[in-house]
Amino acid sequence: MKKRSARRPSKAPRRKPAHRAPTRSMLEAMAALAREARERAQAHYSGFQVGAALKTRTGEIVTGCNIENASYGLTMCAERVAVFKAVSEGLADFDAIAVVADSKRLTPPCGPCRQILWEYCGDLLVHMSDLRGRTKSLRLSQLLPMPFDGGHL
Ligand code: THU
Repeated sequence: MKKRSARRPSKAPRRKPAHRAPTRSMLEAMAALAREARERAQAHYSGFQVGAALKTRTGEIVTGCNIENASYGLTMCAERVAVFKAVSEGLADFDAIAVVADSKRLTPPCGPCRQILWEYCGDLLVHMSDLRGRTKSLRLSQLLPMPFDGGHL
């Protein structure tokens, strides 16, 4: 007789881990950390400083700032710095990212950052804010509809 594997039978309902959407106070705390990270931006060429704070579902927060370079093209955005730091530290399962900049309009992640966020973080909440306290939160799927990802390969 075939031995039953210890794995969950495929028809049993998958119990999702308890998950709550990030609270307003959590998003504010993340924005405050992103604001601090923004102070460390290396934006000597554009003068445009950006900070980010990426959160796992279990509450770990990793920050990033944009890092520019004399070749311009090697510039790394704050969001990708945060993602790469977090992933390289073994973190996964992200549910929100805060992005802080100081411009007339709220700053959303650029196209390449949206792609990287989609692949490594999925449909997380993107919480944008500026130094004057304006905020807006959108799901990444709203910023990147019809994404290309590994499922297409
Ligand atoms: N930048 C970010 O870090 N994140 C964004 O969401 C938009 C742009 C950076 C890249 C560059 O250092 C500067 O802002 C101007 O584009």
